[in-house]
Amino acid sequence: MAGDSLTAPQQISTLESSDFLADVIAGFSSSPRTLPSKYFYDERGAGLFQKICELPEYYITRTEIDILDRNRTEIASHLGPNIGLIGLGTGAGTKTRILIESLKNPAVYIPVDISEKQLRESTALFQKIFPDMEVLPVCADYLQPVVLPTPNHKAARNIVYFPGSTIGNFEPDEAMEFLGRVANVCRKNGGLLIGVDLKKDQRVLEAAYNDRAGVTAQFNLNLLERVNRELGADFDLDQWRHRAIYNSSAGRVEMYLFSDIDQFVHFDEHKFHFRRGEKITTEYSYKYAPEEFATLAGKVGFEFVRMWTDDARLFGVFYFVTTT
Ligand code: TRP
Repeated sequence: MAGDSLTAPQQISTLESSDFLADVIAGFSSSPRTLPSKYFYDERGAGLFQKICELPEYYITRTEIDILDRNRTEIASHLGPNIGLIGLGTGAGTKTRILIESLKNPAVYIPVDISEKQLRESTALFQKIFPDMEVLPVCADYLQPVVLPTPNHKAARNIVYFPGSTIGNFEPDEAMEFLGRVANVCRKNGGLLIGVDLKKDQRVLEAAYNDRAGVTAQFNLNLLERVNRELGADFDLDQWRHRAIYNSSAGRVEMYLFSDIDQFVHFDEHKFHFRRGEKITTEYSYKYAPEEFATLAGKVGFEFVRMWTDDARLFGVFYFVTTT
């Protein structure tokens, strides 16, 4: 896999605070205002997200784990022996562990994650519990150019694993472009195992992103705290409110931070005015019907093999292969 790149070529990306500043200014200068969602996952954010995954309303993680668990043997036989597994945004590695435990002699595992702490911890754990498998962690934002390391172990085929319905956080056209690049990494005889949240009742979706304990609110507001901490801004967090709304015509949950009052925020010689009720868009989470997603992936050369789901059809774990 030497020199394989997940996006356009070259260099392993690192996150610089100057990028953060430029991204925040660009987001606040656009209309409507946005903050890039990749900045959710600093150490505090990654910890809060793990808490979200355990919330009663957030069915996504639990359901995906359950689907993997109940179908592990069948999934593993589709993936085959001696594979090279490339995990994208695999975080603490709970799901990947279930998957790898079921695989036959996995050759190499390459986790790509933006959260350095989780990457370090999961790598140490995986090296310990899977001593025969090579583990080559890459700390990077997989939206940026990432060159994958060259393993010592030779893999029979490359399988990309992309759990958590993170693909839903892309705009559909971006999702397609991204999957096209993933297909290049898989090359001939490769595969893609991907978790995708399915379309469902609006109430279920809105509850999942507006939990009663307020952890999702903390997670969303942490973006503003991070702007305060890292860029010296003066956001007054008491004057901001998290809210998630399902836009059924667009098929997505929209995550917002609403300004409660008319206010100014200062940092780095900049001054931004926010009107009362004005919102900052922080993330979209697209939901797909099974055939919609299979069609999308099909457009970039992925051949649909099958989808595993739960009884209520809340979530889908899709398996695709590349033939060319
Ligand atoms: N990939 C997750 C999802 O779309 C991310 C997520 C969960 C999220 N809850 C959130 C992002 C709240 C922003 C705010 O389900």
